[in-house]
Amino acid sequence: MKKLTGILLASALTVAPAFADAVDDTLILNEEITIVTRTAAPAHMADEVDEIISGWHFRGKETRAMQADDFDNPGMIFVEKGEDAWNTVEGTEGKSCASCHGASDTMAGVRPVYPKYNEAAGEVRTLEMQVNDCRVNQMGAEKLKYTGGNMANMTALLASVSRGLPVNVAIDGPAQSTWEAGKELYYTRTGQLELACASCHEANYGNMIRADHLSQGQINGFPTYRLKNTKLNSVHARFKGCVRDTRAETFNPGSAEFIALELYVASRGNGLHVEGPSVRN
Ligand code: HEC
Ligand code: HEC
Repeated sequence: MKKLTGILLASALTVAPAFADAVDDTLILNEEITIVTRTAAPAHMADEVDEIISGWHFRGKETRAMQADDFDNPGMIFVEKGEDAWNTVEGTEGKSCASCHGASDTMAGVRPVYPKYNEAAGEVRTLEMQVNDCRVNQMGAEKLKYTGGNMANMTALLASVSRGLPVNVAIDGPAQSTWEAGKELYYTRTGQLELACASCHEANYGNMIRADHLSQGQINGFPTYRLKNTKLNSVHARFKGCVRDTRAETFNPGSAEFIALELYVASRGNGLHVEGPSVRN
């Protein structure tokens, strides 16, 4: 068994050897695209983990099957809504996303490199920030709520056209200080339970916590359609839920802390394929 951290975590964890490991299975999308869902860890975390594994491997058979076929994946309905929004004129400039960018599949390759440093703005941007920047500054439209349904529809569309491409966020150069801030947050124990992200998703993935099979907490599958709340869930909403579970004060979606944490967590998945919108519990 892996090292346990935190007395309360230890009491919540049950080791169920029959279920303990990531399920051995291959995700083939629509019988066409083979998705890389496990691969060697990137160099920056090779001392901690040998292999990086998508959350898909920690879900049950039916949930995994749902994601393998677009007709069965409930997240794809929201991709269609995102596609409609992509082609809808909004704002004072009389433009849609398509007016400037063309078809949505021209965005293939964008999701894998976000969060990304934006030279002109001098900041690391998440995909949500970039979408809102285009809405406000290019279209003269209103910002979308960071974790709202319309934003999730758009990020689901942007993820869907990059499925099968490897996550590859830059962690050096101008992004380095943000990445380091995110790494610090990942390993900092917080809350009454004194748990860090790493306590669960690095030291205990594969183990059961209550009724849940702990994964590595990867974000290559975002936004995720969760069977629990039957909607798309954004990265920062998930972070918020996990921090709250440690009984700590959480950061707000879109905050500098969560942007940094997202860059760091994304970099722990460098090499896994984009698979959003994924299906999870
Ligand atoms: C008036 C033209 C225009 C419109 C309309 C527009 N964009 Fe953009 N978009 C741009 C430009 C210019 C850039 C590059 C800007 C930069 O890098 O700062 C860009 C960049 C992007 C990027 C980042 C691409 C990359 O390679 O990093 C995304 C994602 C994006 N836009 C999404 C959207 C979405 C979604 C909409 C509709 C809600 C939209 N854009 C509407 C002009 C536009
Ligand atoms: C007390 C244990 C615990 C802690 C601490 C924790 N999580 Fe989680 N997290 C879970 C559980 C349980 C799930 C649902 C099962 C799974 O995918 O691991 C989950 C799911 C996730 C997922 C979704 C993975 C997927 O494939 O959809 C992400 C991302 C995530 N956590 C990130 C984080 C981050 C970042 C932190 C630190 C801020 C954190 N978690 C802290 C228990 C924890």
